[in-house]
Amino acid sequence: ISEEKSFKYLIIGGGVAAGYAAREFVKQGLKPGELAIISKEAVAPYERPALSKAYLFPEGAVRLPGFNVCVGSGGERLLPEWYVEKGIELILSTEIIKADLDSKILTSAAGMKYSYDILIIATGSRALRLTEFGVHGADAKNIFYLREISDADKLVEEIRAKKKGKVVVVGGGYIGLEVGAAMRINQFDVTIVYREQLFMARLFTREIAAFYEAYYENKGIKLIKGTAAVAFDSGANGEVKAVKLKDGRVLEADIVVAGVGAKPLIELFEGQLDKAKDGIKTDGFFETDDPDVYAVGDVATFPIKLYDDMRRVEHVDHARKSAEQAVKVIKASEENRSIPEYDCLPYFYSRVFNLSWSFYGDNVGNPVLFGDNNPASAKPKFGTAWIKNGKIVGVFLEGGTAEENKAIAQIARVQPPAEKYLDQLRKGDYFFA
Ligand code: FDA
Ligand code: NAD
Repeated sequence: ISEEKSFKYLIIGGGVAAGYAAREFVKQGLKPGELAIISKEAVAPYERPALSKAYLFPEGAVRLPGFNVCVGSGGERLLPEWYVEKGIELILSTEIIKADLDSKILTSAAGMKYSYDILIIATGSRALRLTEFGVHGADAKNIFYLREISDADKLVEEIRAKKKGKVVVVGGGYIGLEVGAAMRINQFDVTIVYREQLFMARLFTREIAAFYEAYYENKGIKLIKGTAAVAFDSGANGEVKAVKLKDGRVLEADIVVAGVGAKPLIELFEGQLDKAKDGIKTDGFFETDDPDVYAVGDVATFPIKLYDDMRRVEHVDHARKSAEQAVKVIKASEENRSIPEYDCLPYFYSRVFNLSWSFYGDNVGNPVLFGDNNPASAKPKFGTAWIKNGKIVGVFLEGGTAEENKAIAQIARVQPPAEKYLDQLRKGDYFFA
């Protein structure tokens, strides 16, 4: 017999966006029992970026509750007790397998039913699997993906079991670079294989990539470009032994970590909500075409005012801000107030070894390098400005201080004329905007 619970506000997904939404609900005024968060994960919302960084370190690794939201943005850490205290029901280890938006009921794998007045979809993304690319033998043991804390725990267990062994990292994107670095810090023999000719090809220019590639090679990491994993061999115990590449090479491996992209989790709403690109279509208030349903974080394809474009953004800053915006909108509409439309400035960052970069804006047009990008420098500091129609529309900075990163964000927002200001960047002055 299935049970049913009802909530005024229901959030499906218990990741970054859900946590920041909960905090915003409390700020705006929430009564006990009004809000529930349903998560397939077993833990309260946390700052997901930690999983590919300090969570994997051999020493001083972070563990929950150390990185529950909202510490990643310098905010209050919301422990499980906080939700209890605020009368927010955290329904953990619960996967929703059916969403009926007409009857406003979600059904869990265990058969529980949850009804709502207002639904916020915050299901995030899942990792793409090598099996989806037709890679043979990709179901061998010791091939890892990284999305949730349970994935990170399995990887940590193998890091301990296969001490100083061989790791092949498949993919040269965010996960590839961050996990590749973390595995090296764990003294593994690391090879990173990627299809493109450049690290992080969706953002990095040739010069930016050349810096990080040389830096990684100096750390003893092997890079194999322009090819892909096509098959895995495993031993009698089912554990992966070798990775076969498209170019014929074969690499020994004790552990494989694949970071081959992510896909927004929107299947539950297929045919029920308008889509745009590969996400759920929303307006600048994160309202979907169902007036009682909002979508935030990785799953939302929303209007970016600055570029007059509809985009999905798979990054944590947007997950936080879109969640806060949706809650403000919900509360404002209850009180017949209006609030400004979301005005996103895309912001991406990464931290590996002693390096740290930030990027703000749009990486379109003509990139111009500035600063010292010698990977052997004691403290490399360089950047790139993207120039479109004579304006600086995007800025990348490696090694910037917090104030400098704020300043480059302002440049990307204001889009000053390149002719006048490019020289300032070359001189290391970032504060003109
Ligand atoms: P998020 O993925 O955080 O949460 C979704 C939640 O929904 C999960 O708890 C999931 O279990 C749950 N869920 C999904 N389907 C469900 C269902 N049917 N029933 C119940 N629960 C369900 N970004 C950045 O800007 N800088 C960085 O350094 C990093 N680093 C980073 C590292 C790693 C390892 C990953 C995987 C990702 C990053 N990111 C990042 C990206 C960033 O973490 C990501 O954009 C946000 O977490 C998105 O927040 P959401 O809340 O949308 O999804
Ligand atoms: P990604 O899109 O950054 O990189 C995917 C990489 O895999 C690319 O290099 C691609 O060419 C390669 N690839 C795809 N198929 C392949 C194949 N069959 N064989 C070999 N290479 C193949 O995706 P990701 O690194 O998996 O990251 C997943 C998600 O996690 C993204 O949403 C990302 O934004 C997020 N994330 C972000 C950060 C950050 O912002 N610092 C850090 C970690 C993860």
